[in-house]
Amino acid sequence: MKFFVDTADIAEIRDLADSGLLDGVTTNPSLVAKSGRSFLDLVAEICDVVDGPVSAEVASTDFETMLAEGRKLAKIAKNVTVKVPLTPAGLKVCKAISSEGTMVNVTLCFSAAQAILAAKAGASFVSPFVGRLDDIGQEGMGLIAEIVEIYSNYEHFTTEVLVASIRNPMHIVESARLGAHVVTAPPSVLKSLFNHPLTDKGLAQFVADWQKTGQSIL
Ligand code: E4P
Repeated sequence: MKFFVDTADIAEIRDLADSGLLDGVTTNPSLVAKSGRSFLDLVAEICDVVDGPVSAEVASTDFETMLAEGRKLAKIAKNVTVKVPLTPAGLKVCKAISSEGTMVNVTLCFSAAQAILAAKAGASFVSPFVGRLDDIGQEGMGLIAEIVEIYSNYEHFTTEVLVASIRNPMHIVESARLGAHVVTAPPSVLKSLFNHPLTDKGLAQFVADWQKTGQSIL
């Protein structure tokens, strides 16, 4: 399973990249607005820090402009993944840009039917938003189970399921149980995967007992 971080905060990205556990980055227009950074500069900087796929989202909604934006983003670095919305025009852009050899992440997926369309459009990734479904009382993880099952029925569907809008560590654990290929989560959620009170308690005990031995390994 691959771990992407869902942020436009370059300090957080550097920090997580240092952990050696980071496989990629996703951004979206809301995260870019929050960062206050120039989008094109930011994407270039993230691509310098992280070797894996870096999702950069188009800003327009019509086919021609999205295509031009996607092509411009793709030129920034070879690991740029152009992110397009799951609309008829977005999927047309997906097909065109994928066939030019650039990875495409189809975002704002909320149904299995939409995920089938993304796979047929040649997307490298489809991003179903589990947290936003949970927020309106629907079963976000149920959608992941459905998409993983459908994709596994067709060898020629090479699109990876990128679980997005993750709110807590159990979303990640459940995604792994279901066999989703990738999760993208805020830095705080990725870091929370380390936490267990018995780990802290056990380590404190080992450190205290080791001191009693009066020994040093080095
Ligand atoms: C995915 O690519 C999106 O950027 C993200 O996961 C959306 O998450 P949110 O619902 O917490 O905004």
